[in-house]
Amino acid sequence: MSSTTLIAAQPTTGAQEIIELERQYLLQNYARYPLVLDHGEGAWLWDIDGNKYLDFIAGIGVNALGHNHPRITRVIQEQAALLIHTSNLYYHRYQGLLAKKLSEVSGLQRTFFSNSGTESMEGAIKAIHAHGRRIQPGKYEIISLENSFHGRTIGSLSLTGQPKYRADFEPLMPGVRFVPPNDLVALEAAFGERTAGVVIEWIQGEGGIFPMTDAFAQLARSLADKFDALLVFDEIQCGVGRPGRYFSYQLTPQPVMPDIMVAAKPLACGLPLGVICMNERAAAAIRPGMHGSTFGGSALSCRVALEFFEILDGLLPSINRVGEYFRAELRKLSARFPVITEVRGEGLMIGAQLSVPGAPVVAEAMKRGLLLNCTHETVLRFLPPYVISEDDVDHAIGILSSALATLPATP
Ligand SMILES: Cc1ncc(COP(=O)(O)O)c(C=O)c1O
Repeated sequence: MSSTTLIAAQPTTGAQEIIELERQYLLQNYARYPLVLDHGEGAWLWDIDGNKYLDFIAGIGVNALGHNHPRITRVIQEQAALLIHTSNLYYHRYQGLLAKKLSEVSGLQRTFFSNSGTESMEGAIKAIHAHGRRIQPGKYEIISLENSFHGRTIGSLSLTGQPKYRADFEPLMPGVRFVPPNDLVALEAAFGERTAGVVIEWIQGEGGIFPMTDAFAQLARSLADKFDALLVFDEIQCGVGRPGRYFSYQLTPQPVMPDIMVAAKPLACGLPLGVICMNERAAAAIRPGMHGSTFGGSALSCRVALEFFEILDGLLPSINRVGEYFRAELRKLSARFPVITEVRGEGLMIGAQLSVPGAPVVAEAMKRGLLLNCTHETVLRFLPPYVISEDDVDHAIGILSSALATLPATP
């Protein structure tokens, strides 16, 4: 299709008509911002009226290389013309290569490809159950953390330690025990012979950018070994380069290795792709026919992910450098605006804790051309693309400071 026909095929509706059409025909489950996006370039987005925004949320951590990255756009175009999807009945060139790359960067030997975070989490739950069943029939309990978020499907929701997401769907999957994050005593008390797995976000994302301590992760590892349970790290938000390492379990001087790691969001730069990476011990529980996915691991997504990893290898130093600069600038801002009470995070996964609700700040920032979001009511969450520079941070800080200045003075 020529670019002329492409443009001609686009409807000429305005923002209000687009929003109204969705209001009539879409399930009303999302509370969207009133912003209709048109296109992007690098860390910048434009709405359909031509207004420009600095994108510091990147599709909730998905658009890791920003928008229209020349190498990603090129491989999508090339691969789309060759082969998009094969199903998992057949081989294509890219699953094996990507699984090899994932094994090199994660230290885990085997990969399963899915399409999203929650689908990866569901597969990890099945692996935990299958592992437990091989040992003894009643070994199916899973320990998860309060304040965690693991997805919206029934299994993932069952492990999500936030009542607001669960309340409408109880009863959920049985056998889940919640413990407070970083509570060593509670973790130890929750383990028993029936424990088949423990699931941890190294840095809780939706929960407000709260990191685990090394001691907590180490204890989880040693208890999992003692009780022959699997240690699972959910790196869907906090992994794949965002923490300035390939995965956040590599942040510690002595990495705590999981048995299973799930990842998704940035892997294919906006195309759907999730992974479950396992060591041989965890993989041993899965036999042919026990799990699968029609769409998982398409030729298109896997080829894009391979290209993404080639680019990511060179970006890790700047993720660390720019992330550190951003946190330092936010801390300076907190001296001027004491409503910012704490700045947390690693690499380019950053939260600014407010003493007041964050939604008005997000709305004011959006009016001024900066996109971010608020999680856990009072945490400004920044998940910018990995390609941002210190200049982009300066621009964002300028907008944030004028957005914060609109807040009523706190006594
Ligand atoms: C830590 C974590 N786990 C799981 C999920 C679910 O991923 P998805 O929305 O792709 O299903 C998310 C999504 O935000 C997440 O942050």
